[in-house]
Amino acid sequence: MPSPTLDLDQLTRPNWIEINLDGLVNNINVFRGCIPPATKILFPVKADAYGHGSLACSWAAVRAGIDWLGVAHLFEGILLRQYGIPVPILILGSITPDDFPFAVEHALTPSLSDAETILAFDAWLLQRGLTHNAHLKVDTGMHRFGIQSSDHATIDALLQLKGLRFEGLFSHLATADVPGHSMTSVQISRFRELVEHLEKKNLRPPICHLANSAGALNNPEITFDMVRPGIALYGYNPMGTIPGDWMLTPVMRMMATIRQIREVPTGESISYGQLWTATRPTRVATVAIGYGDGYMRGEVNQGWMFVHGKPCPILGRVCMDATMIDISEIPDAAIGDPVAAIHGELDSRISLESIADRCHTISYEIATRVARRLYRKYHWQGRLLRWDELRKELEIPAETSSKESRAT
Ligand SMILES: Cc1ncc(COP(=O)(O)O)c(C=O)c1O
Repeated sequence: MPSPTLDLDQLTRPNWIEINLDGLVNNINVFRGCIPPATKILFPVKADAYGHGSLACSWAAVRAGIDWLGVAHLFEGILLRQYGIPVPILILGSITPDDFPFAVEHALTPSLSDAETILAFDAWLLQRGLTHNAHLKVDTGMHRFGIQSSDHATIDALLQLKGLRFEGLFSHLATADVPGHSMTSVQISRFRELVEHLEKKNLRPPICHLANSAGALNNPEITFDMVRPGIALYGYNPMGTIPGDWMLTPVMRMMATIRQIREVPTGESISYGQLWTATRPTRVATVAIGYGDGYMRGEVNQGWMFVHGKPCPILGRVCMDATMIDISEIPDAAIGDPVAAIHGELDSRISLESIADRCHTISYEIATRVARRLYRKYHWQGRLLRWDELRKELEIPAETSSKESRAT
């Protein structure tokens, strides 16, 4: 009979991710040093904190004194409130009339991007004798969300509503990760022009913000009242593999273990599709990590994993749960040994940025696709902790909802 009380934390896991919350705090402090002291930081923790775990990352950031958190959707914000997150939370995506009562109840600040929703929300508030803070999103050229920044008449009118209090005004840059791109200058001048117009009319909301990670690091003059760095606070170069000299610590490591070792003779092929054939006798390790864990299938015959601190080329196709690597140069490698699959601090060849580059994607996509089945461990104040231990250390309150959540 299986034990109903078995604690899965007791099992030795074949693979896991380590979330370096000390690195996250370091990155917040590095970033603070790059912007004017009065500028607030909004830390985007949408998409489960870019795959790093929204609750752990949010609480670590709160303990490090973060000013604001940002989520994409209402439910992501409610989840953080259910675990006691006290700081202001901006919903960066859109909301609908169904969401109004929940935004108010959970003190979540919506971004509002269209006049129809804004007028409906304002009327809804006034009918109930309420007011609620919001940020107005304007479109300066990304053409995703927002009221056209040149539509001064509409913006002026909306900023004077009585139920909605627009404490913030913001826009998003489309090309900030390409240094010197002309579109960034166009967007900056459109945003600036609107802010100056509102200043003249005495309608300027107190928190104007434009810059994401690349925007703030490449253009320190556009920090306005707040910046919204996501990828840089998770420790990845916002410009991919284009060099930047910021002292950022990658927050995520993906680790696994060797599960089998074999000697493969010359002429034998490895993995699905026979895409790699031994040209010499090769010592091969089967590692318990695959695309089902979020490791990139595109690393076929081109990436590395590190064993005992040394690079081991990937041999043939990455499978769902396993990948084969060449450990011929590491004679003492043994079953059970740890393998670093993603670990930018150890070697740039297995940084998220390099893997993304080789696989023709971006670090954001790999990080957000890390599978939930990977066990998570957390580096906090020099120790490697399980979730229950971290929770005590960070003094994360018990969830207020009865539903089980996956917020860690
Ligand atoms: C509106 C908004 N602000 C800020 C960010 C953070 O961007 P980055 O992670 O490039 O710093 C994002 C990310 O997608 C976003 O959508």
